[in-house]
Amino acid sequence: MVVADWDDARGHMLLDPTVVNLNTGSGGPLPRGTFERVTDLRAHLAAAPMDFLLREVPALLWKARERLAGFLGGDPHRLALATNVTGAVNLVAAALETAAPGEILLTDHEYTPMRWCWERAARRGGHELTTFRLPDLPTDPGEIVAAAVAAMTPRTRVLFFSHVVSSTGLVLPARELCEEARRRGIVTVIDGAHAPGFIDLDLSGIPCDFYAGSGHKWLLAPTGVGFLHIGPGQLERLEPTQVSWAYQPPADGGPPDERDRYGSTTRLRRLECEGTRDLCPWLATPESIDFQAELGFDRIRARRRELAHHARRRLTGLGLAPATPEPAALSGGMVAFHLPGGTRTDALDQELWERFRIEVAVAGGPERPLVRVSMNFYNTEAEIDRLTDALRELLPTTGFERSSEC
Ligand SMILES: Cc1ncc(COP(=O)(O)O)c(C=O)c1O
Repeated sequence: MVVADWDDARGHMLLDPTVVNLNTGSGGPLPRGTFERVTDLRAHLAAAPMDFLLREVPALLWKARERLAGFLGGDPHRLALATNVTGAVNLVAAALETAAPGEILLTDHEYTPMRWCWERAARRGGHELTTFRLPDLPTDPGEIVAAAVAAMTPRTRVLFFSHVVSSTGLVLPARELCEEARRRGIVTVIDGAHAPGFIDLDLSGIPCDFYAGSGHKWLLAPTGVGFLHIGPGQLERLEPTQVSWAYQPPADGGPPDERDRYGSTTRLRRLECEGTRDLCPWLATPESIDFQAELGFDRIRARRRELAHHARRRLTGLGLAPATPEPAALSGGMVAFHLPGGTRTDALDQELWERFRIEVAVAGGPERPLVRVSMNFYNTEAEIDRLTDALRELLPTTGFERSSEC
């Protein structure tokens, strides 16, 4: 594939031309090649299900696992595939047993369902859930490490944090945080929902115990691709969320961490097997990685930075203060801006869509309203200008105090 420019690259994406899609952070569109690949696989599944599942899937599954592991800087023998990051984090939280009573430590910016997941795990495990405050607009990753270290105590059993914070796009210094935790015997679990494809992720350089991620955001893989990369010596601690066929290892299964005849390993398959399911999204993941690799991940990230710079200039011009720091070590193609206090975020979101066909994340509720702009290689300065114009028009009407019916 030879791509002349970003316009040409955009032509390789399945994008609705009537929509301004500034929300890859919630869900990435698919490259045409990935869509065609997953559709072909599903055609085989539809036409000859057992032939597909028994004879075609195993080799493709291992190939996909190896490609994804290679891309992540991980090890295919310790890479369990999952439906999404929610499933992967839940799997760890439900299975981890640590000495009670203790503390499970989170940042104060975790994705709400993931916080709930750890609240439940803490309750069940006899632990207390504690949070530490992420600094506002840090200028150096060391500020985040210092805040985390100050919150670690001899009772801390688990540290859970997002590699890229959902609400603001802030990138956390994963390696340093895990090093500090490991020094204190704390188990680390990272929510990497946004990280693959967004940052230059290299799991071999992050000494974490569990790293969960998704494919359907910046990796541009089909919906239904998640993963859990499991640190050395940690696989044995996990139990599947759903008990299915692979729960009991086959008598002739071979060494538990070597490739098996299903395209997995005995130990990984025990976690992955959830009865009959659609594996096609996993199998088509290499297509998305290859597509972006051909465009050049570094080039893509550089283009995102250009767009992020443009968004900062335009939206601060409206008087909206950035909620995301600018240094390259702390951010990428997602920038959030504070909206005026009292902005009715639901109304703003609805108007942006219904009147302007703009897809962007408006969140935080009236107390901490934010607009988060995601920018990828298929976005343009003109789209950011359209968002700026729409906000200029809408904020006076949605920016006032909450209406009585809210
Ligand atoms: C930080 C973070 N964690 C977890 C999730 C949940 O992702 P999924 O619904 O793919 O499981 C998201 C989704 O946006 C997220 O941003």
